[in-house]
Amino acid sequence: MEKIAELLGKKKLTGNDLAIILGAEGAERDDLFKMAKQKRESYRGNRVHLRGLIEFSNVCRKNCYYCGIRKDNHLIERYSIPDSEILESIRIAIDRGLGSIVLQSGEVSSRAFTRRVSGLLRKIDKMTAGSLGITLSLGEQSEEVYREWFSEGARRYLLRIETTNSELYRKLHPADNRHSFERRIGCLRSLQKTGYQTGTGVMIGLPFQTLNDMADDLIFMKEMDIDMVGMGPYIEHEKTPLYQFRKRLFSKEARLDLSLKMIALTRILMNNINIAATTALQAIDPAGREMAVAAGANIIMPNITPGRYRECYSLYADKPVLPGPSDDIVALEESLITAGVLIAYNEFGDSERYFVRKSEHQDIGRNK
Ligand code: 5AD
Ligand code: SF4
Repeated sequence: MEKIAELLGKKKLTGNDLAIILGAEGAERDDLFKMAKQKRESYRGNRVHLRGLIEFSNVCRKNCYYCGIRKDNHLIERYSIPDSEILESIRIAIDRGLGSIVLQSGEVSSRAFTRRVSGLLRKIDKMTAGSLGITLSLGEQSEEVYREWFSEGARRYLLRIETTNSELYRKLHPADNRHSFERRIGCLRSLQKTGYQTGTGVMIGLPFQTLNDMADDLIFMKEMDIDMVGMGPYIEHEKTPLYQFRKRLFSKEARLDLSLKMIALTRILMNNINIAATTALQAIDPAGREMAVAAGANIIMPNITPGRYRECYSLYADKPVLPGPSDDIVALEESLITAGVLIAYNEFGDSERYFVRKSEHQDIGRNK
């Protein structure tokens, strides 16, 4: 029928095709989501895996222009959660049947931080005897540090490229060594080389970003042969430099819509990878994450950070804050059941693409 249905039927989609599809409306938009959902069901089943997200420190040495916990935002209280409290949250997640956790923090690169994380990984291993999948999201580090954490049991790593347009990247970050686009790509390569299931992603609806940029983001992730994708709408934060461009933004609804389309296209292009329905979607619409599952996502990361720290991890405006450690899990369980999606408990829920990639390139991974 229409142009978009024809494009979706093509074997290889070009950047231009992808940009056109990102503009789909009405019945054509429904076709896109239907196709992505079918793909998720055929590659990943009608199942969603939950990862308990612990934002264990908001200390960050970087100054990304979009982020509420950037170093120069002196209006927030900085925290670092003691290991004992992190372990308590993990215990709650395990008791509720979660098979994996994500440890996230601002970016710090120091020997003390590396050691602290290694020590924490050892304590988690002692408590769980390897029965828990561990993902790290701790920013740019040297390959040596990535290797150390891998050897302590971390198996997945998330490092968003944020945007793959290097010029736009430069507009979003200070011009210094600490915020180099090339270095970030190098880190993604190091992670793959070390043997991590490697995740990346972008923000959607950034000032100055075009549909063609987003199409290029999709092609980048496919060409990098990424195992996991986590992406979501950009949401302006009043206490950041990028806030001055808020008048140039698409409406929040349009950013949510584009994010859902990006998720659908990622599923269509990359079949068997893991795709997260991220919290920023929920900041725009309370059902944003469930909408993403209907558009092809298969991972949700309920926040299990101890309640009293949550307000201080304010990357963007309207980030949802629930008081109790398992409140988000309980709410998600209810809404996913209503949506007819099954939650896979007590499983790692690894990216299938990772194992295929590993068998295709025998040189990756340390414990082949
Ligand atoms: N809007 C949406 N996402 C944001 N992040 C940081 N600031 C914002 C914002 N204002 C995302 C970045 C980062 C992740 C931890 O949070 O993509 O990689
Ligand atoms: Fe730090 Fe990450 Fe925020 Fe950048 S996006 S300021 S690295 S927490």
